[in-house]
Amino acid sequence: MQLARSIGARITGVCGTANIEYVRSIGAERVIDYKAGDWLQLDQRFDVIFDAAAAASFAQARPLLAPRGIYINTMPRPALYWAAAVARATSPQRCVPFLLKTDAALLQRLAKLAADGVIVRTFTRSSALPGWRRRSAGCNRRGARQGVRAGRVLKRRPARGLR
Ligand SMILES: NC(=O)c1ccc[n+]([C@@H]2O[C@H](COP(=O)([O-])OP(=O)(O)OC[C@H]3O[C@@H](n4cnc5c(N)ncnc54)[C@H](OP(=O)(O)O)[C@@H]3O)[C@@H](O)[C@H]2O)c1
Repeated sequence: MQLARSIGARITGVCGTANIEYVRSIGAERVIDYKAGDWLQLDQRFDVIFDAAAAASFAQARPLLAPRGIYINTMPRPALYWAAAVARATSPQRCVPFLLKTDAALLQRLAKLAADGVIVRTFTRSSALPGWRRRSAGCNRRGARQGVRAGRVLKRRPARGLR
């Protein structure tokens, strides 16, 4: 959100009740509590929908997209790639499966944005470690098991500096 804000985007954020003020503080002009209302029912069009919780599908989000709008979803799966291919062939709207990739150059760009004050939230090693350990053990923040893909459990190791 902070990166989008830094390039001039006007942001509507969607989060749970406990995070409303936090989401506002990092740049949302308007915040919707998904526990109290359904953002898919909004009578509004967006240039970009970044579905960081993988809470919807392209078909569900499409009525909220501008004519050349882009829907980005962080849970790449076959249906999403199929929707992306169909959209590319049939419409100016786009469906984009998002896969995080990091390398030294990207991390250096992020470090510069943090140094320049574009990214304002920082985490200390001690505050970041518990969440990292839970995630490394295969759990998300609510404690649900993650990492089970096609019948096998993927084990993730923490980064070297965080063990
Ligand atoms: N493609 C990639 O590279 C990549 C990388 C990391 C994660 N992911 C995927 O992205 C998704 C989120 O990962 P995460 O690490 O952020 O998980 P997380 O720590 O469990 O957080 C999920 C967030 O989504 C919010 N949320 C849940 N249901 C929602 C809804 N219906 N509408 C709007 N917000 C909702 C929750 O808000 P509250 O806490 O306020 O309830 C929570 O903050 C997962 O599906 C994960 O597998 C993909």
